[in-house]
Amino acid sequence: MGPTATIIAIVYSVATIIGCIIAIGVWRSTRGERKYLDQERAAHRENGWLAIMVAFLVTTLLLTIFLVPYGESAKADAQKVNVIGQQFAFQISPAKVKAGQQVEFIMTSKDTTHGFGVEYPTGGIAFQAQIVPEHTQRVVWTFKDPGVYPIVCLEYCGVSHHAMLSKIEVTS
Ligand code: CUA
Repeated sequence: MGPTATIIAIVYSVATIIGCIIAIGVWRSTRGERKYLDQERAAHRENGWLAIMVAFLVTTLLLTIFLVPYGESAKADAQKVNVIGQQFAFQISPAKVKAGQQVEFIMTSKDTTHGFGVEYPTGGIAFQAQIVPEHTQRVVWTFKDPGVYPIVCLEYCGVSHHAMLSKIEVTS
């Protein structure tokens, strides 16, 4: 089992245990003597819950917003790569770019929605973008390290969706 698979297994296990605890709590709350709701206490708890959720969402936003690869503008010296998605292949030209210099992916689809997902050579998603017909989708991305980056379709687009694979080579 790889490190990512281990992390996923641990996270799923913890989520399952928490889910079971909540389910048991809900089941137990329906048993026994019928109690009437203390509205004041419930309102107080609801405010506390709201504060926890707001804090959680704001923290998550601040921790992740700077990692979002979208919205960056291409500089004048950006390398341009044209991508056309079509059942069940990507046309990528050129399929070779340089590391350490912006790449502007200019993408569209000829038929239906596809997901253009670029993976790191060592695994894990670098970025992904939906590509749809009659619309040009742009993503600016800088590859830090040379290597062969696998490309996968990340939107179900038909019977051979799973075979919609490609790659891009990044040189130093
Ligand atoms: Cu293209 Cu799935």
